[in-house]
Amino acid sequence: MDFAGKVALVTGSSGIGAAAAVRLASGGASVLVCGIDPAANAALDRLASERGLALRTRLTDVSDEAEVEAAVAECAELGGGIDIVVNSAAVHPYGTVVTTAAADWARCMAVNVGSIYLTGRFAIPHMIRRGGGAIVNVSSVQGHNCQPNVAAYVATKGAIHALTRAMALDHAGDKVRVNSVSPGSVRTPILSLAARTYGGEGVSEEEAFARFGAAHPLGRIGEPEEVAEMIAYLASDKAGFVTGADFLIDGGLHAGLAVR
Ligand SMILES: NC(=O)c1ccc[n+]([C@@H]2O[C@H](COP(=O)([O-])OP(=O)(O)OC[C@H]3O[C@@H](n4cnc5c(N)ncnc54)[C@H](O)[C@@H]3O)[C@@H](O)[C@H]2O)c1
Repeated sequence: MDFAGKVALVTGSSGIGAAAAVRLASGGASVLVCGIDPAANAALDRLASERGLALRTRLTDVSDEAEVEAAVAECAELGGGIDIVVNSAAVHPYGTVVTTAAADWARCMAVNVGSIYLTGRFAIPHMIRRGGGAIVNVSSVQGHNCQPNVAAYVATKGAIHALTRAMALDHAGDKVRVNSVSPGSVRTPILSLAARTYGGEGVSEEEAFARFGAAHPLGRIGEPEEVAEMIAYLASDKAGFVTGADFLIDGGLHAGLAVR
């Protein structure tokens, strides 16, 4: 996919966000990545400089309106506008509605869903001035079906599916396409958190990942670069007739029933 001359804003500077940013920049895009984790930002900046990519990070809390407004303005300066937004930043609190603190619930909504509202609010006018654009929201299989004990997280992932449709319809006439991807288990820091939470005493991360992978019909977890390829397709002009849709990338997880 050719992204020469395109300008992209990506949220989340590790895992899938980092892989998507590298994929877009490798295709020729100028990319600004908004991340809240200084270490992840520094690692991605190092990688970009080693590979000679037009990619840099910006320390940003994507749930903060003023910070997102400033980030979008900075991104637009990279190339006179914005063509692509990839919303990958998320937090993943564990808990039921009874055990999730109100502050954690609100934070999860603000980061996982609010950031999509904010990047859209400030970036879509730039896209309209360019004659169109593409937004890819990273949801999850958990927006379709869910595990126990992740009430806030799954609520945000279902909301992302609904918001994706709403944004797609509202801006189809502007030629701004909006889609989402719903990954199964993918090797990233969020999955490391799942391994620590559910892996069990004395179980290594790789052993926990192997167990998660075995639950997927393809028998393994996914890699962030695999999700980045799907994001790149949806962000590219090749997906010109695709909008308002969600795409599973889950190793067959949703094709089956857990009852055997
Ligand atoms: N890894 C998986 O198994 C999996 C499965 C389904 C969906 N997802 C989704 O993929 C997306 C990316 O997650 P990942 O797996 O790459 O994990 P990750 O933890 O590497 O990525 C999430 C990123 O969001 C950043 N972030 C959190 N709060 C932020 C804020 N307020 N401002 C800016 N950045 C913030 C984190 O610092 C982190 O870099 C998320 O939306 C996640 O829900 C992941």
